Amino acid sequence: MNILALYSIKGGVGKTASAVNLAFTAARSGYRTLVWDLDPQGASSYYFRIKAKIKGGSKDLVAGKHLLDELIKGTDFDNLDLIPADFSFRHFDLQLDDKKKPTKQLKKLLTPLASDYDFVFLDCPPSISLLSEAVFVAADVLLSPIIPTTLSVRTLKQLQAVITDQQLTELSLLPFFSMVDKRKKMHRDIMAHFSETYPTTLSTLIPYASDIERMGIEQCPLAVYSRKTDLLNAYHKLWQEILTRTA
Ligand SMILES: Nc1ncnc2c1ncn2[C@@H]1O[C@H](COP(=O)(O)OP(=O)(O)OP(=O)(O)O)[C@@H](O)[C@H]1O
Ligand SMILES: [Mg+2]
Repeated sequence: MNILALYSIKGGVGKTASAVNLAFTAARSGYRTLVWDLDPQGASSYYFRIKAKIKGGSKDLVAGKHLLDELIKGTDFDNLDLIPADFSFRHFDLQLDDKKKPTKQLKKLLTPLASDYDFVFLDCPPSISLLSEAVFVAADVLLSPIIPTTLSVRTLKQLQAVITDQQLTELSLLPFFSMVDKRKKMHRDIMAHFSETYPTTLSTLIPYASDIERMGIEQCPLAVYSRKTDLLNAYHKLWQEILTRTA
């Protein structure tokens, strides 16, 4: 089981859109896939038309009153399951903080699922917190969407510093560009030399596209309703690239 976290300190960069579309692509290629919506906003639960509610909330989950597999819901798609979010996840940090080894708790919860899934996608809330640190310990890979703007790049620098500082040597950070508008000079300029500083950056770009934005209206992965082959190919290529880095 490979655990891939869609993570960024910054909000609104395309974490959820990527989690949903990559998970759908993985499932469609036959991988047993799970999405865990860790964000109290419940956006990925919403995209899969599953109520963002779990019995007992994060409190019971962290206290060990439920196993994670009791919370799994099937989606409308083969090979693709979801653990919905819950509004109580806004207190996830506090609940983790009550435990002896807070940063190990997510990994502990996920370990029993190891033989059930090939890939788990964690759709993370924006911020850097104790929950994020637990994500860093649980995940094999951090997939970090970067909008080619100075602020987005700045948060990647902060994230890289945390990873180095905490000696998270097992964790690979794979940034990729999201919401790219090649007509903008700033986007082109930022992307031009980026991989010199961040050599693990994936080469596939996810463009800014109203068809992707429409996921909120359609409430399903892009491939279910869009005929835009360039966009579908972008997610497919991104997934192929991720596969080569996780093998
Ligand atoms: N490539 C894209 N092109 C156009 N719009 C996009 C694209 N990706 C995401 N969006 C839209 O931008 C908004 C933010 O995207 P998304 O929810 O995926 O980001 P996020 O990083 O998960 O946000 P948050 O930090 O709030 O969880 C949404 O309205 C989404 O539909
Ligand atoms: Mg999100």
